[in-house]
Amino acid sequence: MDTVIGIIGGSGLYDIPGLEDATWQTVETPWGAPSDQILTGRLGGVTLAFLPRHGRGHVHSPTTVPYRANIDALKRLGVTDVVSVSACGSFREELAPGDFVIVDQFIDRTFAREKSFFGTGCVAHVSVAHPTCTRLGDAAFAAAKAAGVTVHRGGTYLAMEGPQFSSVAESRLYKSWGCDVIGMTNMPEAKLAREAELCYASVAMITDYDSWHPDHDTVDISTIIATLTGNSDAARRLVADLPDRLGAERHTCPHGCDHALDHAIMTAPDK
Ligand code: ADE
Repeated sequence: MDTVIGIIGGSGLYDIPGLEDATWQTVETPWGAPSDQILTGRLGGVTLAFLPRHGRGHVHSPTTVPYRANIDALKRLGVTDVVSVSACGSFREELAPGDFVIVDQFIDRTFAREKSFFGTGCVAHVSVAHPTCTRLGDAAFAAAKAAGVTVHRGGTYLAMEGPQFSSVAESRLYKSWGCDVIGMTNMPEAKLAREAELCYASVAMITDYDSWHPDHDTVDISTIIATLTGNSDAARRLVADLPDRLGAERHTCPHGCDHALDHAIMTAPDK
């Protein structure tokens, strides 16, 4: 089986330069259209599929991103490994704007999104105790280091609904819970990737200290964009480094991401 890397790019990452045979493909899914066409091509001898999460021109808000269609479309293109790239705020002094975090846990506080491929007709309960793939996260961590950024391995990401940023009271609350970073898009993406039996890793690029920090201004979009613009080359170098680390041949995931449904389906096969 071949490795196919799926990159879901967030704010600031809308294309992948240097892809060979680059083609924007339209993919239909039963869940509707994905956020945009998907850019496929070859990088370092490995097939890569890139999806701009918010669409080119940034037309989908975190709430209206069609998460199910996005994951389904990547699966249909044969993607085996999904690396999510997104912006986030920090709850810790030592996680500074400009740093990257390879997130490994989530607290899902989103409430206005479809979160499962399963429901009436076929019921399944997958485990998201470990919602990210350690093997893929390790590769993303090594790729970020090689790209020359300050990167932290592991962190808890609070997924909020948005689109407004947090109040000071909310920000202090999430910090008191032990969260490391906050963003608006990694959930339900990570849950859906697990249901689709795809390995998933999240590269969160810190752009701000959210609203809790007494010595920093509260977050605003111009600060976020300025930090992301400064980081976009590093994010592209990270992506370009992944094919070599993952290799063209895909073996079974040692953590079982690709068998997540083996013991998850409740509905009788004849129903
Ligand atoms: N994305 C970037 N910074 C953020 C923050 N402080 N809160 C939520 N999402 C973000």
